[in-house]
Amino acid sequence: MKLGVNIDHIATLRNARGGLEPNLVEGAKIALKQDILALTMHLREDRRHIKDKDLYDVKKLGAKINLEMAATPEIQKIALDLKPYSVCIVPERRQEVTTEGGLDVEGQKEYLKEFIKPLKEAGVLVSMFIDADSTQVQASSYIGADYIEMHTGCFSNAFENGDYIKELEKLKSAAKLAQSLGLKVNAGHGLNYENVFLMHEIEGLCELNIGHSIISKAVFVGLEEAIRMMLKLIK
Ligand code: PXP
Repeated sequence: MKLGVNIDHIATLRNARGGLEPNLVEGAKIALKQDILALTMHLREDRRHIKDKDLYDVKKLGAKINLEMAATPEIQKIALDLKPYSVCIVPERRQEVTTEGGLDVEGQKEYLKEFIKPLKEAGVLVSMFIDADSTQVQASSYIGADYIEMHTGCFSNAFENGDYIKELEKLKSAAKLAQSLGLKVNAGHGLNYENVFLMHEIEGLCELNIGHSIISKAVFVGLEEAIRMMLKLIK
């Protein structure tokens, strides 16, 4: 399993004061010194954390960027210009604190099939951020996605309540179905230093995208150590 470090919350903190600290590019450099697959960045429509310039500044470091994005023409245009390593298509509601729930691929499959075509043609890997649901997995395969990223929010909440078995089983069977359809499988959201060990029970997971818990840990131990600790747990 590989790690994608989501650095959005370095930008959240920076934007709280409107200045340059903490410096996102410095954070990206620290993360890139370690054995991670990519830096994950979500360009939200309201630009509440990552700004357009951040993407280009981080790309200049030679980083593989996993761009989380809504399926809108505005962000697609930026993605086609940036040419990140991968994109993860996420649902986006302006009022939400974070990405709540997976994308409804089934409900907009013809739109998404067309939407991802130019990205794929540009050589960008395309992932769908979905709940562990067979209909959404099948729809992701139908539209020609390369990956699914399973939303682990329900699992993470269940873990906190001490009753995660059912949610873990859902993730396992969705991953199995996706792999049988030729999709590669990632996971993310709400994963932390306590619950991440259970991801080893899901066979063939490629990548975990983790942000909030790493940046939170970094407040106390520094970013380098926070990433090192997470890498130890997922390897
Ligand atoms: N993957 C996706 C698609 C996300 O939207 C997010 C949240 O930005 C994450 C992973 C990381 O979630 P967390 O910050 O809870 O680790």
